[in-house]
Amino acid sequence: MTDISDNDELPTGWQIGQTSDGRVFYINHQTQKTQWEHPITKKVKVLPKESGEKKTNIVFFDEQQKRSATLDLRQTSTKDLDPSFGHQSNALQILYGTDLANKTAVVTGANSGIGFEIARSLAKHGCQVILACRNLTKGEAACSKIRTEKEDANISCRKLDLCSLRGVKQFVEQYRQEALPLHLLILNAGVLNTTFKLTEDGYEEMFQVNYLAQTYLAAGLLSSMLVTKSDQPPRIIAISCESHRVESPGISTINGIATDRLSPRSPHHFDHLLSYGQSKLCLIMFIAEFRRNYPQIYSVACHPGNAINSNLTRDSYFYQFLVLLTRPFSKSLQQAAATPIYCAITNRVLKEPTIYYNNCDEGCPSTFVYNHKLTEDLWIQTQSLIELAFRKQPLTVV
Ligand SMILES: NC(=O)c1ccc[n+]([C@@H]2O[C@H](COP(=O)([O-])OP(=O)(O)OC[C@H]3O[C@@H](n4cnc5c(N)ncnc54)[C@H](OP(=O)(O)O)[C@@H]3O)[C@@H](O)[C@H]2O)c1
Repeated sequence: MTDISDNDELPTGWQIGQTSDGRVFYINHQTQKTQWEHPITKKVKVLPKESGEKKTNIVFFDEQQKRSATLDLRQTSTKDLDPSFGHQSNALQILYGTDLANKTAVVTGANSGIGFEIARSLAKHGCQVILACRNLTKGEAACSKIRTEKEDANISCRKLDLCSLRGVKQFVEQYRQEALPLHLLILNAGVLNTTFKLTEDGYEEMFQVNYLAQTYLAAGLLSSMLVTKSDQPPRIIAISCESHRVESPGISTINGIATDRLSPRSPHHFDHLLSYGQSKLCLIMFIAEFRRNYPQIYSVACHPGNAINSNLTRDSYFYQFLVLLTRPFSKSLQQAAATPIYCAITNRVLKEPTIYYNNCDEGCPSTFVYNHKLTEDLWIQTQSLIELAFRKQPLTVV
């Protein structure tokens, strides 16, 4: 199937479509007009004719002009259009017409990649965004970049190193002291290490950064969310990954939760792909349990897309090469930010019991997520691991 997703980013309020003969067109929802040229680059695109498979996606046929399209052109030119967002949507399209001036968001790992696009998109719509970054220089650079697009963007950067639970505690204490509101907490930061590393707290780095420290952050910021006055419940959006489906050495229906396999203490029991996937499974299971414990907060996990061209693969030339190969078929960073933004702002998600979203739609996570005994056990073990880290010296590599 031809992918018409565009690496040339579209301005707010624009949408991309394709006619059955392969021509790409651009829809301006504000002026209610369509055009063949990309609104910024002025490029005109014709992609290969649709295959038989894609033909089923034709939803509009113009009798007079004898042309068909994958979008209903009548609807796309109406202002109240609520497009059915999908894998080609980007964050700014979803935010089109949304005013977030009275909202405050914290985005972890917002200095680069998907987190940056989430922060940038929210800030462009008036949201106060706190970029929680481990490196303040990078965080400030990200803020400056956003300000070049929106001079009066309500953004700031704060230090948050998820490799340090004490660092997370400091972040939370400062946040609470300042009595800042919190409408949106976006747990985006993540690492994909190919080698075994321990944090200062003695846990395997992917387990701590992708899961443990972010759950600690969410629990710490809970009170700020609960006192935030808003017409809608506060939301926690956790960026997980489809790779949560890989085998999880530390989670099983027979043996329950084995913390020494969730966070191996030595490289002998370390498989980087299993550890990465498992940390992402833990995140969704945490969201399921968090939702059960705090129904006042809308908590959801999502998958941003596969093989997104970001810094995630910085550790491995092999993965960088794979990302390069799949780049024509994968989402742009703006598109990868779409599902998290969708979960953060649309009302639809509040009405659905779904725990996991993919391509701006309901996703079906691993069955472990619905195993209450396991999610509850993970919840309890997680608290113990955090308490242990504060009580003990770092564990040593054996
Ligand atoms: N890329 C994909 O194909 C893909 C697919 C599925 C899911 N995801 C998930 O999407 C999320 C964003 O990833 P990305 O692709 O945008 O990668 P990225 O560009 O590498 O962004 C990751 C962010 O996390 C931050 N981070 C890493 N370690 C941290 C720590 N100890 N404390 C605080 N922040 C830390 C990074 O900060 P530094 O810049 O300082 O390192 C960076 O800002 C991740 O959770 C990832 O697992 C990505």
